Amino acid sequence: MLKRCKFIVHYVSKFNVFEQVRYASQILPQFSAEKYNVKRKNFSNVQAADVSYFQSILGNDRVLTDRDEVLPFNIDWIRNCRGQSQVVLKPKTTQEVSEILAYCNKKRLAVCPQGGNTGLVGGSVPVYDEIVINLMLMDKIITLDEISGALVCEAGCVLENLDNYVRGHNLIMPLDLGAKGSCQIGGNVSTNAGGLRLLRYGNLHGSVLGLEAVKADGTVIDCLRSLKKDNTGYHLKHLFIGSEGTLGIVTKVAIHCPVLPKAATLGFFGIKNFENILELYKSAKSSLGEILSAFEMADNLAITQTVKNLNLPNPISDYPFYALVETHGSNEVHDGEKLSNFLNKEMESGLIMDGTVTSDPAKMQTIWNLRESIAASSLVGGYVFKYDVSIPQKHYYDIVPMLKQRLGDKASAVFGYGHIGDGNIHINISVPQYTKEVVSLIEPFIFEEVSKLKGSISAEHGIGFRKPQFIHYSKEPSALGLMRDLKQLMDPNGILNPYKVLPETN
Ligand code: FAD
Ligand code: MLT
Ligand code: ZN
Repeated sequence: MLKRCKFIVHYVSKFNVFEQVRYASQILPQFSAEKYNVKRKNFSNVQAADVSYFQSILGNDRVLTDRDEVLPFNIDWIRNCRGQSQVVLKPKTTQEVSEILAYCNKKRLAVCPQGGNTGLVGGSVPVYDEIVINLMLMDKIITLDEISGALVCEAGCVLENLDNYVRGHNLIMPLDLGAKGSCQIGGNVSTNAGGLRLLRYGNLHGSVLGLEAVKADGTVIDCLRSLKKDNTGYHLKHLFIGSEGTLGIVTKVAIHCPVLPKAATLGFFGIKNFENILELYKSAKSSLGEILSAFEMADNLAITQTVKNLNLPNPISDYPFYALVETHGSNEVHDGEKLSNFLNKEMESGLIMDGTVTSDPAKMQTIWNLRESIAASSLVGGYVFKYDVSIPQKHYYDIVPMLKQRLGDKASAVFGYGHIGDGNIHINISVPQYTKEVVSLIEPFIFEEVSKLKGSISAEHGIGFRKPQFIHYSKEPSALGLMRDLKQLMDPNGILNPYKVLPETN
């Protein structure tokens, strides 16, 4: 029988878990340039006079040069990539960003824009000695229009802080992700982050109303409008959404915030096989309609290893697959009726084997915490290869068993989870240690299979440093050519986030 949530709420601060996991190992990752055999491009080296110039704009405190202080800005969240930057700059205003970029462009100094450094494709850290420009001090909320829901803020605002703020005004942020406690809205926009409720609230190309960005030569591009409709020429904001810091630095964002739902409910269900996950999704769409706000899936290993590695509670017992179904609506009675009809039907049909439903915020949080912690749990012990692909739903899970078979005992775990409503599966492969032999078994095999299935090699995390050489599996030569033309136009000296997104031409 379906039971109400009855496990003890065991709230674990996500941030603490992540930080504990990240710094559990004191071994520094290998330099990306060596690990991936990258040749340094022809940029200038940072000189003492450059540091003095930055200090004259920012003051000494906002120019970091101490090795220990700079180190965390050189290492990415999964501790796979490590850059060799010697300077981190922390601007507080758009004017400062503009002056820094104008100077770097003139001097041919390469830069790496950085937000919360939670990116998963190595785009947020330097490869060689690019100067890190971290936006963390640009964290002011500028305006909130409670009628339209338009929030205007600086790019360094942490997503969770923005969500807490707008909730106080009966609104929510249109995106939510496990890294919300650290990622910044500028980073979210620059990666076109998807997350847990894209199914309901759409992607950032729809939610971002306007933005301000600084081009490589220091020109400030002001597209900071809060209008829903504005067809005055080219929609330039879209160039910056998802361009991963290669076309400009986003400094301000105007974003549409949906209304805080009056009623929210979460179900966590045990499912017999992947086919039944798909059937349940179809049924949820038709029974829950407009109140469906998230439909996530995880296989058995994704959940059991998260429970084990991070000592988190699983509210139900062991099942081959799990589905997490959330509703956001405006009428508790109406929504409750819809949800219970759906549940009764699907328990009877056998699609749901067991589960728990709750609208208690603390219990919902505990279930979400289990789902959102899968990423952090994979960092415990060994090395993890992470893939983030989208595939037409009927073939969504095909690659997981394929990879299991291909890797055999070379992998300690291969598992899949993700945003099935968006056709986006995350495939994690844990190995005792990174070796070239394992890499050659996985890449480009995985991208070839995704391409055969007419999928995308990156559904939401982006191309960053790790995938430019595979972008052709998802982008035609003509489209790649136009991307190069845009890069050349907007950043002719290539100083913005080099070695990222665009593949080398040779
Ligand atoms: P960073 O990691 O600092 O940077 C990411 C990229 O954006 C880099 O290329 C960087 O150069 C560029 N950049 C950052 N700020 C700016 C700026 N102001 N201007 C120009 N360029 C900039 N992603 C999803 O899409 N969906 C998820 O569900 C999701 N869940 C996650 C869960 C966890 C636990 C973790 C660790 C990550 C997750 N991610 C997810 C990936 C990551 O959090 C997102 O990509 C996020 O949007 C990155 O934001 P950030 O501020 O940390 O950016
Ligand atoms: C998620 O959905 O949990 C994230 O995108 C992070 C991950 O890939 O693990
Ligand atoms: Zn995701």
